[in-house]
Amino acid sequence: MIVSTYGTTSIEDISTASPGGLKWFQLYIMPDRQFTQRLVQRAETAGYKALVVTVDLPVVGKRYPDLTNRFQLPPHLSVPNLQGLESSASQSKDERDYGGGASPEDPALSWKDIDWLSSITNLPIILKGILTAEDAGIALDHPGVKGILVSNHGGRQLDGVPATIEVLPEIVAAVGERLEVYLDGGVRTGTDVLKALALGARAVFVGRPAIWGLAYNGEDGVAEVMTILRSELDLAMTLSGCRSLAEINRSLVVGEEYYSKL
Ligand SMILES: Cc1cc2nc3c(=O)[nH]c(=O)nc-3n(C[C@H](O)[C@H](O)[C@H](O)COP(=O)(O)O)c2cc1C
Repeated sequence: MIVSTYGTTSIEDISTASPGGLKWFQLYIMPDRQFTQRLVQRAETAGYKALVVTVDLPVVGKRYPDLTNRFQLPPHLSVPNLQGLESSASQSKDERDYGGGASPEDPALSWKDIDWLSSITNLPIILKGILTAEDAGIALDHPGVKGILVSNHGGRQLDGVPATIEVLPEIVAAVGERLEVYLDGGVRTGTDVLKALALGARAVFVGRPAIWGLAYNGEDGVAEVMTILRSELDLAMTLSGCRSLAEINRSLVVGEEYYSKL
């Protein structure tokens, strides 16, 4: 599980509730670097195994549904990880505005900040939000970076960016075996998982399906979503003749160009 900086349960409480679970911490590098550093230390102390740095949110995208619905965090929820954050906007204002405006992240974020992060932690850094082979290539020059999560923030940042599954192959080709590559965005079925693995992803993540499971039936609902995805992946592997994850390969996926030759 990747736990968000903006989670409504703290880094520590999630850790206590899931002692056996593998957890990574999703970090926004905020203008207040001391505060950011404290978050990193809290994640380390609480046993998180990697930092997933979101790099596609220097500013928040225009989310028309959030604006139309006047999205605000419901009053019974808060963002405990940001308690004590003194920023130009007060913390409560930050919380209110996240749905439709202010960014938690430093808008001037650059590769230098990734190097700064590597200098203050030994945790592996994974860049979340890379969408081009060019950026993946630059990541190779930054030693703290150990992985790339190919993501377009679930399509919530910039309308018109490519689907992550479309750019996955060029990113995998750019980094080879040197970095692990993961994918999120639109993974809804076991065959989606199979396709991403076939195109070189080491693993996939889901965002909204987990929330839908939660809305449907709480913790059991989330478990059910995962069970469905797992059983669909098993079925897809069986019916495509793959006895193990290692046998899933590129030949399973063809694109439009294949049909245009028919
Ligand atoms: C309600 C919501 C909140 C999100 N909050 C964050 C966040 O705080 N940090 C982040 O890096 N990504 C955030 N994301 C993006 C997800 O991490 C993920 O990239 C995306 O949801 C994956 O696409 P999917 O929902 O189609 O599976 C959020 C997505 C949603 C739907």
